Amino acid sequence: MAKKIQINNHDFAYPTPVFIVGVNVDNKANFMPASWVTRVNVKPNIMAVSINTNRHSYKGILEHKVFSLNLASTNLVTETDYCAIVSGKKEDKSGVFNSFYGELEQAPMIEESPICAECKVTTTVDLDDHALVVAEVINTYIDEECLTDNKPDINKIKPFVFTMPDNNYWVTGEYLAPAWNIGKKLKKSQS
Ligand SMILES: Cc1cc2nc3c(=O)[nH]c(=O)nc-3n(C[C@H](O)[C@H](O)[C@H](O)COP(=O)(O)O)c2cc1C
Repeated sequence: MAKKIQINNHDFAYPTPVFIVGVNVDNKANFMPASWVTRVNVKPNIMAVSINTNRHSYKGILEHKVFSLNLASTNLVTETDYCAIVSGKKEDKSGVFNSFYGELEQAPMIEESPICAECKVTTTVDLDDHALVVAEVINTYIDEECLTDNKPDINKIKPFVFTMPDNNYWVTGEYLAPAWNIGKKLKKSQS
C-alpha cells in the first residue's frame, strides 16, 4: 500500500476544467478564465462559479446579473492564459475573442469557443475572498462540427484541464471506460 503523507490543503482539488467567463463591464466585453466552475442542479440547469470579488469580471456580474461560460479548447490556450495574466482593470480584453450575444443581451459569448452558455445569476454567496455565483443556464450553443450522433464529442471539442500548485495546462487523456456501466461488474444484485 502506498504511504500517505499530508500536503497543503489547497492542493486537493485536482485537476479542474478551464472555462472563460464573459461579462460586460462598463460597456465593454471582458474575459476571465475560471476553473472553479461546476454544475450544481439539473432542473433548472444551474451552474456555480467561484469568483474573487476583486476581479474586474465580478463588477460586470454585479452590474448586469448575467454572464457567459465558454469552454476553453486547446487552440485557445494562449488567449485564455493572457486573460488570466491581465485584468480588465488594466487592459482592454474585449478584442481577444470575437463576441456574440444571445437572449440575455449583456452576456458576451466567444465565437472561437466550441461550447458557450448564457447564464442568469440567481444567487451570490459571499464566501470571504470569493463569491459563489449561482446562475441558471438559459441557452447553450455548440459548434455543429463538434457533435457526433447529436452529442458533444470530446475529441472534437478538445478541452484542457488545469493543475495547481504546479500551474500547468494539460490536454485530456485517452478514453477509459463507460460511465454508470463499468462498475456493474462489482454489483452483488442483478436489479
Ligand atoms: C486556469 C485559471 C483558472 C482560474 N480560475 C479562476 C476562478 O475560478 N475564479 C477566479 O476568481 N479567478 C480565477 N482565475 C484568475 C483570473 O482568471 C484572473 O485573475 C483574471 O486576470 C481576472 O480577470 P479580470 O480582472 O479581468 O476579471 C483563474 C486563472 C487561471 C490561470
